Amino acid sequence: MLLEVDNLSVRYTTRRGVLSAVDGLSLQLRRGETLGLVGESGCGKSSLGKAIVRLIEPAEGTVRLDGQDLGALTQRQRLPWRRRMQMVFQDPLSALDPRKTVRRSLTLPLEVHRVGTPAERRERVDALLHQVGLAATLAERMPHELSGGQRQRVNIARALSVNPDVLICDEPVSALDVSLQAQVLNLLSDLQRERGIACLFISHDLAAVGYLADRIAVMYLGQIVEILPREALWRHAAHPYTQLLIDSIPARGARLAAPSSAELPDPYAPPRGCRFQQRCPHAMPLCGEQPPELVPLGGAHAVACHLYGREARAQVSNVSNPAPIASVHDA
Ligand SMILES: Nc1ncnc2c1ncn2[C@@H]1O[C@H](COP(=O)(O)OP(=O)(O)OP(=O)(O)O)[C@@H](O)[C@H]1O
Ligand SMILES: [Mg+2]
Repeated sequence: MLLEVDNLSVRYTTRRGVLSAVDGLSLQLRRGETLGLVGESGCGKSSLGKAIVRLIEPAEGTVRLDGQDLGALTQRQRLPWRRRMQMVFQDPLSALDPRKTVRRSLTLPLEVHRVGTPAERRERVDALLHQVGLAATLAERMPHELSGGQRQRVNIARALSVNPDVLICDEPVSALDVSLQAQVLNLLSDLQRERGIACLFISHDLAAVGYLADRIAVMYLGQIVEILPREALWRHAAHPYTQLLIDSIPARGARLAAPSSAELPDPYAPPRGCRFQQRCPHAMPLCGEQPPELVPLGGAHAVACHLYGREARAQVSNVSNPAPIASVHDA
């Protein structure tokens, strides 16, 4: 396995107390695969992405790249491993140093990771600009002299410049005009597939994720509640939350509707048992008591919901309108 995230937790200590942004989360990424990570604002997607590349230190858990536990390395030892994992951020402007030309921003990672001679670096930057569809003349410009779409192309070029094995894209197009989003998404997915890069694609746009990703992980309040292959998303989604996300897209392609704040649990004090219970139309007594574990439903599909657990089958006979209990892939 290329990337293995095991039992990862991220916590923030603030004046209000300890907020658990990512809670014991595990996922795997194979070489060349795209895993979409979807969930509402504040569920911990960016915290997870940053903890994987160690822009923030996780409170618990391990991240392994090709079997190497990155947490067991010193900063210095980590550098060559860091090269192999790159991140593209949501805001293309703040991700670039405002005082550096495009060429400088693109050359810097090559210098840090000691890639090539100065002449080779220059050539490489020109080639990268070409690959992301930017004119060579843009290389001498400053970030503020670029459009949003151009800036995000520079960010993509920078992430790709050091030939990563894993790309973490955190809402890479949400700051762009709708008309540009598809272009930049297609560029990303073409480059990624050409180079066989694995991608963790973070988004709150289920339609985009359903289009791009091989597998989709649905996150709710710091945890993965369902993980499923793309083919299963629209017809076989099992978790009531995944279903809610799907149902809130009237015409597929629209954005997810935001929940009312009354429905959202407090991340400082998540409910005992299932974190989705307050919003779940199928909540049972068990959901208030025990957190559901992620259980396999067949193939690459797994769900963390008591409707699909063994303990629940006894209770569910009392529920007037139960969700489908049998394997969703029976059909
Ligand atoms: N530096 C921080 N200090 C304290 N709390 C934080 C910090 N960064 C994030 N949080 C909190 O952690 C939780 C997860 O935030 P995160 O940014 O990871 O969510 P997200 O899923 O990326 O949201 P969005 O879709 O809005 O980008 C939120 O409740 C957020 O308020
Ligand atoms: Mg975020």
